[in-house]
Amino acid sequence: MRKQIAAANWKMNLTLEQGEKLLDDIIAKPHELAEHQQAVFAVPFPYLTMAQQKIASKQNVYIAAQNCSNKKSGAYTGETSLEMLQSLGISVVVIGHSERREYFNENNQLLAEKVNICLEYNATPIFCCGEALNIREAGTQNAYVEKQLEESLFHLSAEQLQKVVIAYEPIWAIGTGKTASSGQAQEMHAHLRSMLAGKYGNDVANNITILYGGSVKGSNAKELFSQPDVDGGLVGGASLNADEFVTIINSLK
Ligand code: PGA
Repeated sequence: MRKQIAAANWKMNLTLEQGEKLLDDIIAKPHELAEHQQAVFAVPFPYLTMAQQKIASKQNVYIAAQNCSNKKSGAYTGETSLEMLQSLGISVVVIGHSERREYFNENNQLLAEKVNICLEYNATPIFCCGEALNIREAGTQNAYVEKQLEESLFHLSAEQLQKVVIAYEPIWAIGTGKTASSGQAQEMHAHLRSMLAGKYGNDVANNITILYGGSVKGSNAKELFSQPDVDGGLVGGASLNADEFVTIINSLK
């Protein structure tokens, strides 16, 4: 079975103390991760080491960065390189979250560079894609998301692509409490997988983990994750609450 992942995205929330408590609370609650399941915590940069230490003895639990530089090193004030992340033992990076695209002008070309640099350093990019409300209303979401994948991922070899996790996050569902229905999520995930199959073949497409993101919570995770092409979730708001996130972890197939 392909990897099933519950990924927390803390965004720019929590103090160090609050972050420590949240991780302690989650670790203390009963949750089980089968061999094909993972929990990932994308925490703010200053907390990476703290979080890494907290989960050190945990199986199938990973700490992720929320972003990285597209450059290797040098005079790029304020940026964080893959080499730095690697030196902390971080091997997962969220790439191209819609908030990065919208507020920091990250485009498909730049994100292709970030994906490349992750792969060069053996890190797993969680590559985010998804359409805004006006695109969904115009009914052109499939073509829009296709272009995001084409321009940021389709230069990769089949071997490289299989190291990427894709997160489909319709922007109209992020932080709005307005979740895509499980049918809408499944429809897009199946579309993404058939695109991947068209370019890389069925075997490769069936190996790629595709997460859904946008108002995932304890009460809807099971229904969303039960869809055949939904392999878990990228979770913002609900990942800041230990009970909610543990319920989400326990909803993985
Ligand atoms: P949300 O955020 O769960 O708060 O909607 C999801 C995300 O932005 O990754």
